Amino acid sequence: MPVYFYGLLAVSLILLILILRLYLKSSVRKCKCKTLLLGKVVIVTGANSGIGYHTAFKLAAKGARVILACRNEFRARAALDKIKLGTGNSQVVFKKLDLTSLQSIRDFADDVLKTETRLDILVNNAGACALENKYTNDGILEGMQVNHFGPFLLTQLLIPILKKSRPSRIVNVSSLIYLIGFVNLKKINEKRLNRINLYADSKLCNLVIQQEFARRLEELDVVVNSAHPGIILTNILGTSHPLFEAFFKILCWMTPRTAEDGAETIVHLAVSEECGNVTGKFFMDCKVAYLLPKGKDPVLAKKLWELSEDVVKDYIS
Ligand SMILES: NC(=O)c1ccc[n+]([C@@H]2O[C@H](COP(=O)([O-])OP(=O)(O)OC[C@H]3O[C@@H](n4cnc5c(N)ncnc54)[C@H](OP(=O)(O)O)[C@@H]3O)[C@@H](O)[C@H]2O)c1
Repeated sequence: MPVYFYGLLAVSLILLILILRLYLKSSVRKCKCKTLLLGKVVIVTGANSGIGYHTAFKLAAKGARVILACRNEFRARAALDKIKLGTGNSQVVFKKLDLTSLQSIRDFADDVLKTETRLDILVNNAGACALENKYTNDGILEGMQVNHFGPFLLTQLLIPILKKSRPSRIVNVSSLIYLIGFVNLKKINEKRLNRINLYADSKLCNLVIQQEFARRLEELDVVVNSAHPGIILTNILGTSHPLFEAFFKILCWMTPRTAEDGAETIVHLAVSEECGNVTGKFFMDCKVAYLLPKGKDPVLAKKLWELSEDVVKDYIS
């Protein structure tokens, strides 16, 4: 083959990649909703960094009382100061929440139930991808607890105040990585081959259990939906395998988005009028996205609910 043929091939490939990147960049949608949230109360978990920080900022800018539910007081207070300064909203507060401890989740919920008069929007954003295959003091695989069992318990405990404040909304931050996830109820708390499998399984759990939440809460005027924020270079990777880090960085370059862009779909689910009547759906770029059958199996959802309830039962009553 002549050398110029390979040259032409390389140039075409580079052009194709650049066009694809441009297309993916242009697919970022902004939430156009102008609704204000004066008098409303919002909780954003993991609000001190990345997508959660920008979500809390945008909701505070709309005038809501925003509770930053974070595990690290120092990082949370730094975020709180920036949000207050940037939005001029003094109704932004920090409450401690560590999802690796069921007791911390219970304490956080008790505090909210005792001190807040209402809760209009719960954003289950906190999550972690690079967690070791290790168990928490509650005997749960850490990644499953932070990403699935913890948010499940938190949501359960806050349902009474969400019900009282209806119409209200729950927004779960899931991920497209669910595509490679599996929910094996018998092995849900068993160590995985690697952290990515664990993360993908837990993010699939978010989608599956949401079906059961949606079914149970529909009559009560509480809607529950999930978002994939996009592939974004945040702290989510933690310290991962260098090869995976490189792969993730290439993906982020291909689908250029900021953490602020990532917050758009979450805010859209939290405030837009049209999403007030939608429940049990998966959103990307402020639109309903196709969900594979494994993410919306109602029988699996019911079984996962029962199992999850059993795991956290000591903290529910
Ligand atoms: N970035 C992406 O490409 C991407 C793609 C799809 C979905 N998501 C999802 O988006 C959400 C936000 O992630 P991000 O990308 O913004 O990452 P991030 O910057 O690492 O934010 C994660 C947040 O969760 C908090 N968190 C972690 N473990 C916690 C625990 N045990 N208890 C309480 N809070 C805890 C972190 O607190 P610390 O600062 O104290 O660690 C941080 O505030 C996650 O649910 C993630 O799965 C991200």
